[in-house]
Formats: sequence, structure tokens, C-alpha cells
Amino acid sequence: GNSPVSAVVERLCATVPDYPKPGIVFKDLTPVFADGGALRQVVDSLVCAFAGKFDAVAGVEARGFLLAAAAAYATGTGVITIRKAGKLPRAVYAQSYALEYGQATLELHQDDIPAGTRVLILDDVLATGGTLGAASALLERAGAVVAGVGVVLEIDALAGRDNLAGREVVSLLHV
Ligand code: PRP
Repeated sequence: GNSPVSAVVERLCATVPDYPKPGIVFKDLTPVFADGGALRQVVDSLVCAFAGKFDAVAGVEARGFLLAAAAAYATGTGVITIRKAGKLPRAVYAQSYALEYGQATLELHQDDIPAGTRVLILDDVLATGGTLGAASALLERAGAVVAGVGVVLEIDALAGRDNLAGREVVSLLHV
């Protein structure tokens, strides 16, 4: 369709109160991924925002993988996998961070990226920014350059951009 990508995301995004814990309002984008037209619009919009500025696309486990693989395929670049602790089999860099609900560690293989590679990081939601801040730090520890950060949805009240100071951040929808 012709509707702006923000309207498509707003229409399809599901809001789940008290998930995964009481008081947390969860934004579920699986209906966006499940809609072929919406998925294409979302991926094309994120890629377009950073056109010519990246050599690889990093996805953050788990939902970021969906976007990163599609964006990499669409642009003929490769995917960098940033995973939760304990999932990558070889030598990793590890970065702990505070989540909106709890604490977590992300890891990246030390040798997956040639030095100087310009990496676009994609994820579904920017909430507190802990996840994408840790992902950015990991890529830089591995010698990459963070070309930018793209998300489908940004929760403005949580001020996640504060954890991404100096980064170019593109969000398709703000709530
Ligand atoms: C969600 C979401 C982002 C992150 C955003 O992932 O997909 O990665 O939280 O939160 P933040 O900005 O406060 O860090 P989650 O940890 O639920 O992992 P999943 O995709 O594997 O379910």
C-alpha cells in the first residue's frame, strides 16, 4: 500500500499490558513481521535511511535478527550476529547492560568483522537503550564503525537515545 511506514507499524503493532511483568507495557511487533507488505516497507525504510553508509548489518537477538537478515539480503551485505550470553561458540567480547526489566549480557565474536567495517545495527524496539548501547560498544571493541542504529519503534518516555549519544538513530514510529 501507499500508507506511510509509521502508520502501518502503528496499525499492526500490538500493545500488551503487564508483560512480561506487572507494570511493563510490551510493544509486540510480530504482526508487523507477519505481514509481507509491512515487513518489506519496514526493511526498505530502514535501509533507505542509511543508504550508502554501511558495509554490514548487525542484528540483536532475537527480533533484531529478522530485520538484519532482510536488510542485509536486500543490500547484498552480510549479517553480524550479536547474541545473548553463552550462544556463540568461539572467542567473544561480552558487554553487560541494564534492561527495562532486569539485566543481561550480549556477546559478539571477536573476529566476525574486518576492522573498519561500517555496521548498521537494527532491532525492533528502542526502549531504555541498554541493548543498543551494549551492541554499539561491542562492535567498536571489535574494530567496527557504527554507521547508525535503526529501529521500528522507539518508546520516547524511556529516553533510550541518551544511551546512544553521538549515534545516528532512526525510528520508524515513536510512541
Ligand atoms: C527487547 C527488544 C530490544 C530490547 C529493547 O529484546 O527486542 O532488543 O528489548 O530494550 P532496551 O532498549 O530497554 O534495552 P528482549 O531483551 O526482550 O529480547 P528478545 O528479542 O530475544 O525477546
